[in-house]
Amino acid sequence: MIVKLLSLLAALMSLSQTALDAYAAQTNLGGSLYLVNRSYTLSEDYVPPDLVQPLCAGAESGTLMRKEAAASLEELFASAKEAGYTLVAVSGYRSWGTQRTIHSRRTGSGDKKEKERARLLVAPPGASEHQLGLAMDLGRKGKTNLNAAFGSSEEGAWVRDHAHEFGFIIRYKADWSDITGYADEPWHIRYVGRDHAGRIHELDIPLEHYIEQLRLAHFGEYITEDSLR
Ligand code: DAL
Ligand code: ZN
Repeated sequence: MIVKLLSLLAALMSLSQTALDAYAAQTNLGGSLYLVNRSYTLSEDYVPPDLVQPLCAGAESGTLMRKEAAASLEELFASAKEAGYTLVAVSGYRSWGTQRTIHSRRTGSGDKKEKERARLLVAPPGASEHQLGLAMDLGRKGKTNLNAAFGSSEEGAWVRDHAHEFGFIIRYKADWSDITGYADEPWHIRYVGRDHAGRIHELDIPLEHYIEQLRLAHFGEYITEDSLR
């Protein structure tokens, strides 16, 4: 009996360990759940390993994403097209240096109000998930300016409703600004993989909260009495 109990315990512990390993792999640098924001930043020399150009409208030779994200983006674009919408890939991977250039240009010009607005829309170098190669800014046919109009367009509504089916989340929503640190960006989608995207869409929570919930769930699973029974 004791031997049986011990082997059951070992099996449960190894299951939990597997869940922990999977969680760690996805939230480690290189994993699809890696968190980047103003508090969790990337180093200047981080370059994702497998950048490719997605074969999507608007994508040029410098428009890059990590391989898995790029393949999913192609599927998303094809599905949007079937529904009658032409999406355009506007900005994908950005190096630390490129982000620094954009940030200083955008936050260094215009009046005080424009500068403040720019600070909520453009991440400082290291604090942009574009550097992960897992984010893409979207436009629509003939309209590639990144602004609120995308969110109220039919294309924007389609993306909001369907991006998760292809592993992408709408990363920045107006209600989440205090948590994400950035303003509403209906055009910015972030690849996290289909399972996580589906759950995040359903829960309608920012990535910061989702990762925290996962962490609690996995560590809780590892140490609760249930897992020892
Ligand atoms: N627009 C987002 C916050 C970025 O610059 O990464
Ligand atoms: Zn973006």
